[in-house]
Amino acid sequence: MARKVQFVETVLRDANQSLIATRLPYEKFEPMLSTIDKAGYYAAECWGGATFDVCLRYLNEDPWERLRKIRKAMPNTKLQMLLRGQNVLGYSHYPDDFVKLFVKKAVENGMDVIRIFDALNDVKNLKVAMEATVNAGAIASGTISYTTSPVHTHAKYVEMVKELKEMGATTICIKDMAGIMGPQEAYDMVSAIKDAVDLPIDLHTHSTTGLAFMTYLKAVEAGVDIIDTAISPFSGGTSQPATETMAYALRQLGYEVDLDDECTTKMSDYFKGVRDEFVKDGTLMPKSMATDTQCLTYQVPGGMLSNLLSQLKQMNALDKFEEALAETPKVRADMGYPPLVTPTSQMVGVQAVRNVLDGQRYKTVSKEIKAYCRGEYGTTPAPIDAEIQKQILGDEQPLTGRYADSLAPVVEATREKLGDLAKSDEDVLSYIAFPNLAEKFLEERKAKEENVVTYTITEA
Ligand code: CO
Repeated sequence: MARKVQFVETVLRDANQSLIATRLPYEKFEPMLSTIDKAGYYAAECWGGATFDVCLRYLNEDPWERLRKIRKAMPNTKLQMLLRGQNVLGYSHYPDDFVKLFVKKAVENGMDVIRIFDALNDVKNLKVAMEATVNAGAIASGTISYTTSPVHTHAKYVEMVKELKEMGATTICIKDMAGIMGPQEAYDMVSAIKDAVDLPIDLHTHSTTGLAFMTYLKAVEAGVDIIDTAISPFSGGTSQPATETMAYALRQLGYEVDLDDECTTKMSDYFKGVRDEFVKDGTLMPKSMATDTQCLTYQVPGGMLSNLLSQLKQMNALDKFEEALAETPKVRADMGYPPLVTPTSQMVGVQAVRNVLDGQRYKTVSKEIKAYCRGEYGTTPAPIDAEIQKQILGDEQPLTGRYADSLAPVVEATREKLGDLAKSDEDVLSYIAFPNLAEKFLEERKAKEENVVTYTITEA
């Protein structure tokens, strides 16, 4: 019998985030939810990542309400979210009580699969979220942030996968956020992991460099079980490869694909219209849809290149671009080869620019780099250059344990502080994650409700 390959549809989260800065409001995709639900996906990635932040910041949506509505409209398909380990949906580490309650509530509100990653691949930062996911009865997808460096060997990745399995991972995800994994590398890495554990493997990549279709194909040959794709109008460029194209090619090669073509055609027709609206208003830029091979040459993710350029432009120092570009991998090496993903990519990029503009390395250091050297982000893949670490920290001793162990619980105190402004634990969680945004949202909701009450009384 033909081997089955399953699909995760990313249009609601990663494709939305990568192409249009997560600006898709609920009403824009609501008409397609029942179709996605019937299409036969392994899961629909629809929450987490930047969706939470953007719902509150730009769309005036309660992210929890969005999740409940998606759940109701899609009773048959697993819902999937992306969670940044101890960072949850933010950019720094949270106390454990917040991480646990957040995961519990995400599952209660309808989440089935939680994909959990850490920017440094430090499993200490994944443990609490993984356990909470298992305890809540959801699928914990233990994730590797993929990168290349002298210390990122297959043996190291396999070791990490075994630890993830021990923590209760139901599936393993290889997350190639920069789209730099080539087909042979995919074949070798998937084979190595398949040899080591008997868990389903999901490969996640981006079309940025144009490698993705080839990479998926070789990963499937090596036995990958699940691939992440986006419906064609929201595919390509910084997003994922197209769902329909992958399904077509895999069927031709004799693999079993459960997708319903009528459903994907309907989705494609619909999302074409949505995409065109975002092209028209300038949210979707042509360069996001294009293939960009620069990151293969420079080994620096595409997003970092544009950040470097805009930083130098602001400082009137565009002539230093080549120098800053050359400095970037050196800073990364000094910092112990972190995978370049939020927030490490920003930290390394900013430091490289500083080093070049100051004409002296590590003369000025951001507070994030200092915290990083102190160990607040976790254990680095290789040790930080000892001399540089000493120069940055002075007499301060770096942490050896888990940073979150030093953080005081936050949930109960926040609940008390918010009083009746928070109607639920979900409100409390939104506030802890994004205090300013959530406060504004909760105040406005309260004002609206009070207006409704006045109106009712007048009528009566
Ligand atoms: Co992604």
